[in-house]
Amino acid sequence: MEIINRRQRMSSVSRKIRREQDRTIGLVPTMGALHEGHLSLVREARRMCDVVVVSVFVNPTQFGPSEDYEDYPRDLTKDTALLTDYNIDYIFAPAAEEIYPKDFSTYVNVGGLSKLLEGESRPGHFRGVATVVAILLNTVRPDFAFFGQKDAQQAVIIKRMVRDLAFDTEIVVSPTLREDSGLAISSRNLYLDAEEQQSAAVIHRALKQAKETYKKGERHAGKLAEIVRATIETEPRVRVDYVSVVDAETLEKLDKLDERPILVAVAAYVGKTRLIDNTMLNKTKKDAATTKG
Ligand code: PAJ
Repeated sequence: MEIINRRQRMSSVSRKIRREQDRTIGLVPTMGALHEGHLSLVREARRMCDVVVVSVFVNPTQFGPSEDYEDYPRDLTKDTALLTDYNIDYIFAPAAEEIYPKDFSTYVNVGGLSKLLEGESRPGHFRGVATVVAILLNTVRPDFAFFGQKDAQQAVIIKRMVRDLAFDTEIVVSPTLREDSGLAISSRNLYLDAEEQQSAAVIHRALKQAKETYKKGERHAGKLAEIVRATIETEPRVRVDYVSVVDAETLEKLDKLDERPILVAVAAYVGKTRLIDNTMLNKTKKDAATTKG
C-alpha cells in the first residue's frame, strides 16, 4: 500500500495501471475518519476491482461557513492502519492546496437536484461534493467508484453528473451499514454521547415503520411522512429537520405513491448534531447495485 499526496503522481500511477497492466481500478472517495460504513465500500471495491484506491480528503468546498470543517475528525495514521487490513493498493490523501490551487475557479453544479432536501439546509454543499468528485474521478480515472446509500441524495447527484458529463466510470451504490441499534454508522456519531446515540436509533425505527406501513398498502406520501415524524418525535432528544417522500431518481416530492422506486429521507438533530438517514421503497435490483452513468 502506498500513500500518494500529489495529484500528478496519482494520475500517472493510475494511467500506468490502465495502459500497461490492463487492470481495473476502483475508487472509494472518503473524508477519512473511517468506520465500518466506509469499510463496507472498500470491501465491495476489493471484490470487484483489481486495484483499489481510497481517497481521504476533507473537502473544504462542501462545508458551509458555520459547519464543522475545522473540527471534522482527521487522523490519517489511524485510517491507514485500518486500511492495511483490507489489502488496498493506494491511499490518495492530498492537501487542500493540491486539489484547490490558489486561482481555482471551476465548479460543477448539478442543477435542480442539488437544491432539494439536504441542499435546502446546506446551500452550496452539493456543488462542493460534485466538484471534488469530478476532480477525483479525473485524477484516478477509475472503472468503478463506490458510494453509500446512507447519503442517498449524494449518490443520485453523482450518478447524474457522471451521466451528464460523460465520465467513463460506473457508479456503485452500497447499502447503509448500521449499528446493532439500527443507527446508521456515521463519522458524526462521534459527536453523540451514549444517551444521544441510543435516542438517535429512533430514526431507523421510524423509517422501518414507514416501510411496513407502505407494504400494508398505505399510498399517501403525506401519511407516511407523518408516521416517520411522529415516531421520531417520541424521543425528546431528537428534533426532525425534514421528512421527505420523493421519487428516488428525480428527488421530486410525491403525493400519491406508486410502484416506482421511492426514497423516504430524514434529517434530524440530536443535540447539536445533524444526522441523515433514509429508506427505499420498491427498490429494484438495478437500484440496489451498479448504475452506469
Ligand atoms: P464521507 O462522509 O467520508 O463518506 C464516504 C462514503 O462512505 C460516502 O459514499 C458515504 O455515503 C459512505 N458511507 C458513510 N456512512 C456509511 C454507512 N453507514 N454505510 C454505507 N456507506 C456509508 O460522503 C463523503 O464522505 C463526501 O461527500 C465525499 C463523497 C468523499 C466527497 O467529499
